[in-house]
Amino acid sequence: MTSKTVLITGCSSGFGYGCVNAFLEQGFRVVATLRDADTRKELFRDLLNRYESHLYVASLDVTDGEERKSIANLLETKFGGQLDCLINNAGFGLFGALEDTSEAQIREQIEINLMGTVFLTRQLLPFIRAAKGRIINMSSVLGYMALPLSSMYAASKFAIEGFSESLRYELSSHGVKVCIVEPGGFRTRFADNQRWGEDAFNQNSAYRTQTDNYSAFQNKQRTGAGTPPDAVIKACVHLATARCPPFRVRCGNDAQMAYFLQCLLPSRFLDFLLNTMFDRVFHGRRGHD
Ligand SMILES: NC(=O)c1ccc[n+]([C@@H]2O[C@H](COP(=O)([O-])OP(=O)(O)OC[C@H]3O[C@@H](n4cnc5c(N)ncnc54)[C@H](OP(=O)(O)O)[C@@H]3O)[C@@H](O)[C@H]2O)c1
Repeated sequence: MTSKTVLITGCSSGFGYGCVNAFLEQGFRVVATLRDADTRKELFRDLLNRYESHLYVASLDVTDGEERKSIANLLETKFGGQLDCLINNAGFGLFGALEDTSEAQIREQIEINLMGTVFLTRQLLPFIRAAKGRIINMSSVLGYMALPLSSMYAASKFAIEGFSESLRYELSSHGVKVCIVEPGGFRTRFADNQRWGEDAFNQNSAYRTQTDNYSAFQNKQRTGAGTPPDAVIKACVHLATARCPPFRVRCGNDAQMAYFLQCLLPSRFLDFLLNTMFDRVFHGRRGHD
């Protein structure tokens, strides 16, 4: 058992919610943050009953500078400035062709998935440095292998990878460890919360066939039971508690396979394979123009 403190973003569902429970079970004091916490505290009623003294639920929209400051104040006043682990988990997926996506949607994707992580980390680093703590950033298989119709989501996750890698070296002499988790597809509310470009389903879109086929492909994937999020939650606990945690953990067979193919195959051959596969899925045809 430990009396360490972890702060997790995006705790209303999925990996974030699962992590709250898992870290409480490990004896951590958990600051579970989510948007509009005041109206959604009910989500944590059972956990608050069970772990009253160890669970603190707080509002945090990661894009809101005032709320980020309030969280830092809260850590100072309620937890004596102790923060041993920050899990930057909040995020969502924006899909659709770049041309079908509005500037506002692009900015929102980067603002939440990347800048939210960057600014919150910057705000809380003095506490994490003092504790010689850890930062765990949620990346994705799309953080190292991009798919079509997800350019801005992939851009946000590739950026998380570069941000984390640089920070890992920058902070290592300060005793702070930075890690990333790279999940493949898992059953959370990610699919329900994903958004499409404003014009993705517009009849006049030049990408309409690709979008329809990709959307149908996603729906087919979703009708199965899906993989429960346990492996990702377990990975977060491992990264927070292991003496020498690895920099990255890939979760799920799809994430492992993507990495395996990248390492094993010459890049031109992999490119050919992916193009052929994407042609089938996105254009519903066999060849490549
Ligand atoms: N599930 C997968 O297959 C998968 C695969 C690879 C990577 N990921 C990544 O895993 C992370 C968690 O996703 P999930 O799968 O657990 O999906 P999820 O169930 O949709 O959870 C996403 C969480 O992020 C929160 N969020 C969104 N925008 C926010 C903001 N501005 N400020 C604070 N919180 C915000 C959501 O809160 P609200 O309820 O307020 O919207 C929700 O709690 C994401 O970064 C995602 O990109 C997921």
